[in-house]
Amino acid sequence: MSGGPPIVLIPLHVRRDPRGNLVAIEPGDGALGFEIRRVYYIYDVPEGGARGGHAHKKLRQLMIAVAGRVGIVLDDGVGRSRVTLEDPSKALLVTEMMWREMDRFAPGTVCLVLASEAFDEGDYIRDYDAFLAAVGP
Ligand code: TYD
Repeated sequence: MSGGPPIVLIPLHVRRDPRGNLVAIEPGDGALGFEIRRVYYIYDVPEGGARGGHAHKKLRQLMIAVAGRVGIVLDDGVGRSRVTLEDPSKALLVTEMMWREMDRFAPGTVCLVLASEAFDEGDYIRDYDAFLAAVGP
């Protein structure tokens, strides 16, 4: 896919250690681009399953495949970009007014999401045509 929104991957600080690596994420880390107000994770997605399929009016998110592999499609209403997340040291920035779809989950995948706002169903746009109308010219 080309011509879609840029894929922004933010490198996380990894404390590499022969005993195993560690990544710490704290509020106030300017590299993340926003204050974290919520954390959730998606796991045990059945084979062939998909998540997402919506946009947010205000919410910003960072997605990290802390285990496994997941495909993310970002759609800004003009074009679509696809990225595979599989590196626990990189966080994908998903900005507001960005349609996102998550698919191609490898077995055992855990996708951690850092969010800029508390949960608010009113912030969702779950209808694709409504999304296009909202971002359209
Ligand atoms: P949804 O955001 O639609 O899932 P995804 O985009 O990952 O496919 O959320 C699924 C359900 O969980 C929906 O009923 C809202 C609820 N939910 C919360 O209560 N709190 C949260 O932080 C999130 C992300 C979802």
